[in-house]
Amino acid sequence: MKRFVSDIHSCNVVELTKIHNPAGNITIIQNGNDQPFKIRRIYYLYDVPGGSDRGGHAHKKLYQLIVAASGSFDVILDDRRNKKIIQLNRPYFGLLVVPGIWREIVNFSSGAICLVMASDKYDPEDYIRDYADFQKYKDDTSNR
Ligand code: TYD
Repeated sequence: MKRFVSDIHSCNVVELTKIHNPAGNITIIQNGNDQPFKIRRIYYLYDVPGGSDRGGHAHKKLYQLIVAASGSFDVILDDRRNKKIIQLNRPYFGLLVVPGIWREIVNFSSGAICLVMASDKYDPEDYIRDYADFQKYKDDTSNR
């Protein structure tokens, strides 16, 4: 029997709720609205030196919604068969990343903040950090 095999077509950009205000806008993310998972952890990357790359791993079960809360960066998504690059450069767009996707985050602008909402607490066992292991994992899951 084939198991669910995730691909990059399931990783989409969603437009988040935005309240316009000349004195400063507000964007809201809450459970049940914008992402198909319950948020259990929030973390953010900041003070990223220009030229640094982050990510470089996949998750087995974790869902994430990634927002450029400030500045911009590019997210490279790879499902072993196909790749796509999503530029995030507005705080009211969120990129849904489903489990089983290799991701890298590159081209951070100066002062960029990468805000991540995740479906679970930090678990090192959920990471696949080696690309060859990721390829094997995808082959194994798609053949079952
Ligand atoms: P990691 O997820 O590898 O960062 P990136 O892929 O963006 O470069 O995390 C870097 C380090 O931070 C690693 O030692 C694990 C630790 N960490 C936590 O302890 N808790 C967390 O929620 C996250 C995201 C990372």
